[in-house]
Amino acid sequence: MGIEMNWSKFIQRVFQSAEPYLKKRGDILHTQVAHQYTLVLMKQEGGDKKIVEPAIILHDVGWSSLDPIQIQAAYGVRSGGKEADRLNRIHEREGAVIALQILQSLKYAPQFTDEIISIIQRHDSGITARSIEEQVVKDADKLWRFSKIGFWEEIERQELEPAELYQYLLTRYPEWFFTDTALIIAGKEIKKRGVETM
Ligand SMILES: [Fe+2]
Ligand SMILES: [Fe+2]
Repeated sequence: MGIEMNWSKFIQRVFQSAEPYLKKRGDILHTQVAHQYTLVLMKQEGGDKKIVEPAIILHDVGWSSLDPIQIQAAYGVRSGGKEADRLNRIHEREGAVIALQILQSLKYAPQFTDEIISIIQRHDSGITARSIEEQVVKDADKLWRFSKIGFWEEIERQELEPAELYQYLLTRYPEWFFTDTALIIAGKEIKKRGVETM
């Protein structure tokens, strides 16, 4: 059994460990799509998969520590303000705690674990990214809403009009991404969402 085989098994185990937490907000699909985007981004931009892949799979496990009403207030196009920020920070902080427990239970190498935890702690708030790994995680997380599946799921989840989400993404996306590859993907996808919402 080669290293790649071991790696894909490990990634499966991380997914399995994260699932019960991700289910709470219905984030399994979001996580799978964002994970796929990290693979695409790493091909073009680089980044260490040993940090990036566990980080993206575990990044949203912290939503499990908030109730649905808090999640609604903390997240999305219509949220904002101090309370939204406070709740959002909880999902980052609690996510880091849960992710640490999961990685320790899987006996993952501490040098990677430390970096993964610090990315999760800042994944939705830090306006800078300290490493290429952090850039890739943040960009992949955001690309979800541009994908066909993510765009339409967010419309349902946040009870938005399709045109509302489309306009929101269209006006803001040029400033959201750290990597050129993510910016290009978002630009292509938003054009397609525009056609679908017409
Ligand atoms: Fe998040
Ligand atoms: Fe996310």
